[in-house]
Amino acid sequence: MSWPEQVVRVQSLSESGIHAIPNQYIKPLTERPVLKLRSQFHRHVDIPLIDLHNLFGKDPVLHLDTLNRISAACRDWGFFQAVNHGVSHELMSRARQVWRDFFNLPLEAKQEYANAPTTYEGYGSRLGVEKGAVLDWSDYFFLHYLPISLRNQSKWPDQPSCCREVVAEYGCQVVKLCKTLLKAMSTDLGLKEEYIENAFGGDNMGACFRANFYPKCPQPELTLGLSSHSDPGGITILLPDRDVARLQVLNDGDWITVNPVPDSLIVIIGDQIQVMSNAIYKSVDHRVTVNSAKDGVSLAMFFNPKSDLVIEAAEELVSEERPALYEAMTFDHYRVHMRMKGPCGKKRLESLKFNTP
Ligand code: OGA
Ligand code: NI
Repeated sequence: MSWPEQVVRVQSLSESGIHAIPNQYIKPLTERPVLKLRSQFHRHVDIPLIDLHNLFGKDPVLHLDTLNRISAACRDWGFFQAVNHGVSHELMSRARQVWRDFFNLPLEAKQEYANAPTTYEGYGSRLGVEKGAVLDWSDYFFLHYLPISLRNQSKWPDQPSCCREVVAEYGCQVVKLCKTLLKAMSTDLGLKEEYIENAFGGDNMGACFRANFYPKCPQPELTLGLSSHSDPGGITILLPDRDVARLQVLNDGDWITVNPVPDSLIVIIGDQIQVMSNAIYKSVDHRVTVNSAKDGVSLAMFFNPKSDLVIEAAEELVSEERPALYEAMTFDHYRVHMRMKGPCGKKRLESLKFNTP
């Protein structure tokens, strides 16, 4: 399988100095972002910001307090910003810089890693394979981190020279954070501490990494860096762009801009956790806006069930009053939709809903 039309690197397009973006990037009216901040102030919102320090500590009262905050954020929002998350700040900046350096390489160097829709691994500029689809204003690099059997460092950039090492080290610290969070979430849901991690395949759990590059855009009001979507997997740990607030989350029908807190990581609940928790936790619809003055880099690590495991609601969370809401399905099967059609809000998850009489 290959791409349906010639792949255009958005960064090259941006650097060519065009003043009007090509039609293929122009979103339908209802999907365009509203970039004026004023529109947000009709409703006051406190975006959840959680200090994870006490999740790693021994004090049971403070531990429970942190757990309760995580619980509320996962139920009401499907995401939160985390500080004191245990990932080295210095490593976070190094990782960001390494990927900035990668995207600043000459085009030919990056093209060596050009990806195909069969695995998505490598340097890419679109999600979805439908000819004529509206495209997003971004390029990315996607790679497999876990399970180890899928990790192939020769598919990771060999420039800048420390890239592979930094990705490996950054991944290792983020995996630790992910495991701590999955334990906290399992406990909060009334499940055994190891439940979610085991249901995702334990040591065979999947982890993918994506560096997103958002080039400057001459008409940011017409397009998006990444269209509305929920993450199809379990949880995502995102290092957002440092300089510009680009990420927006959908909450009660409004798109809320997330202003990045220095040194924070963003935890995003994906569809598999919504399925497994029988919708006690919600995955969050989110998107990324672009900017005319500054380009940006964000790093996402996606934690997914081992691809051939069937994911369904935990037995403990299903009862006569609350039957299972979604059809059981392997992650492999589930993600085909995103890979064929690209970002589609929460449509895929909704299509799994059993018809209730
Ligand atoms: C993603 C994503 C947000 C961002 O990669 O799935 O939502 O800020 N990224 O880049
Ligand atoms: Ni996402």
